[in-house]
Amino acid sequence: GRRAIVTAGPTAEPIDPVRVITNRSSGKQGFAIAAALAELGAEVTLVAGPVFQPTPAGVTRVDVETARQMLAACEAALPADIAVCVAAVSDWRPRDAAAAKIKKTGDAPPGIDLVENPDILATLSKSPSRPRLVIGFAAETHEVEAYAQGKLAKKGCDWIVANDVVADPFGGDANAVAVISSSGVDRWERMPKSEVARRLAAKIAETFQ
Ligand code: C5P
Repeated sequence: GRRAIVTAGPTAEPIDPVRVITNRSSGKQGFAIAAALAELGAEVTLVAGPVFQPTPAGVTRVDVETARQMLAACEAALPADIAVCVAAVSDWRPRDAAAAKIKKTGDAPPGIDLVENPDILATLSKSPSRPRLVIGFAAETHEVEAYAQGKLAKKGCDWIVANDVVADPFGGDANAVAVISSSGVDRWERMPKSEVARRLAAKIAETFQ
């Protein structure tokens, strides 16, 4: 009966009607977490960027493209008890998406002027209607846990689930994560993403008992 918001997948930020800036993300881990929370009886809104994943049973799915749409969909799903931000949100977007396809002219390639996207995790963490438990992910290529500790404070969330994207490439079925909170680090051995999701959902449920 607890309400949960899960973000998953990448965002796609238009350069023009045919080109986007995006991140590598299959959506698998976020979709598995949404499924695991629903299996434990949570009322889950899954806000998904463009991915090819089936909607888990019992989950309300909202499909979005851009970071700003993802944030709006999350805010529309408040109030919630739990937010799990798994999405690989594009940090930047082109300042002005061209209305028509940019043509190759043979001259120098066009520059793309970028502006920063809203940080969904930080916005939810600092929201007046902040979910009681806010969880972020940290995908890093090195010094995973050190960056994750910093991210807890910077984003204002309660836990960071850190994973090394070199050890577990994008789109794979397994993940080795460490769950970092103010009370310490919980390191889990490498396991299928579905199992990471079940363990995380169980850990979430424990905090609501
Ligand atoms: O700062 P970094 O992108 O490494 O942080 C990752 C965490 O922040 C993930 O939980 C991701 O979903 C979230 N995030 C977000 N909005 C952004 C950037 C990251 O929610 N614009």
